[in-house]
Amino acid sequence: MQKMSAKPLLKWGKKHYRNMPWRTTKNPYEIWVSEILLQQTQVQHAWPFYRKFLKKFPSVSALASADLNDVLKAWEGAGYYGRARNLHKAAGIMMQKHGGKVPSDAHELMKLPGVGPYVQAAVLSLAYRKDYAAVDGNVERVLTRVYGYGKEVSKASSKRWLQRKAQGLVIKGESRAFNLAMMDLGATVCTPRRPRCKECPVRNQCKARKEGTQEAYPVKRKKGRVPHYDVVTGIIRKHGRILIVQRPFEKLLGGLWEFPGGKQEPGESLKETCKREILEETRVRVRVGKLRVVVRHAYSHFRMTMHVFDCKYLSGQTKVNREHIKARWVPIKELKKFAFPGANKRVLKSLKANEK
Ligand code: ADE
Repeated sequence: MQKMSAKPLLKWGKKHYRNMPWRTTKNPYEIWVSEILLQQTQVQHAWPFYRKFLKKFPSVSALASADLNDVLKAWEGAGYYGRARNLHKAAGIMMQKHGGKVPSDAHELMKLPGVGPYVQAAVLSLAYRKDYAAVDGNVERVLTRVYGYGKEVSKASSKRWLQRKAQGLVIKGESRAFNLAMMDLGATVCTPRRPRCKECPVRNQCKARKEGTQEAYPVKRKKGRVPHYDVVTGIIRKHGRILIVQRPFEKLLGGLWEFPGGKQEPGESLKETCKREILEETRVRVRVGKLRVVVRHAYSHFRMTMHVFDCKYLSGQTKVNREHIKARWVPIKELKKFAFPGANKRVLKSLKANEK
């Protein structure tokens, strides 16, 4: 087994430190928010969301007392909305149980919704200077290469192994510098493709480099092909307003608003789907008009093509079924107050561009 020493890494880390807004703060709340965001959003995309979110919710108490709809609105476009719901819920718990603070106790921190081993370690190390190694995807890549670790990384046993290895490398009192240097190394040098090994401070300690097998690590399970769905939605108008429906909080994209519609069934035309889905979801009858826009969007476990039709309201009182919790007729100008899934951006834009 290769031996890795953190010393050259720390030296390298000092020189190549990347400045980011969440690295200059010492506020545990801000650090917690940033780590939740950075778990699934790349650094360059996270920046604007981080600023917007903290401007709106500058403290645990501000977040805890906010309306969940406003929290989702601030998260709009960042994706993985469970994170926003968990932040809101966890802030409530912090108010009730932790005096409005992000807990500094490892066990208490881990009990919060949305906090797993990575966020736990990152917050403890970056906010409270405790000696915890934070292992994210970038760090996994560095470690599996250095050690030539060939088991599939998503396994619980691999996670434990990597965590133990990383923890063993932390020099007392230096976990913040260690974690940031590992993240920076993974992001800028030990990249998934064509790593820049010549610039790497641990190149002489790296098994994969010695063998020339860098790109074989980390070993990941092959993803199956993700399914594709044709989805149809309707822009239904009545007296200058448009009908929108809210998804149930516990489901995918929970709490977000959307235009009524659903998946095309075999043998159905797109217009038939539109009419049927709207009737099933909202009890409203419509005449389906022209195709307004087609949007393609990839989620983590499926892809969809969304066909959006202009519809004219004919009859029926809105009454949502179990797929949704609320329906509202909203003037176009006010649509921006509601949080929509990212796929709707172009639809909303098309409404603003053409109509009052
Ligand atoms: N700095 C602090 N946390 C970070 C993270 N998760 N990714 C990149 N840089 C960071």
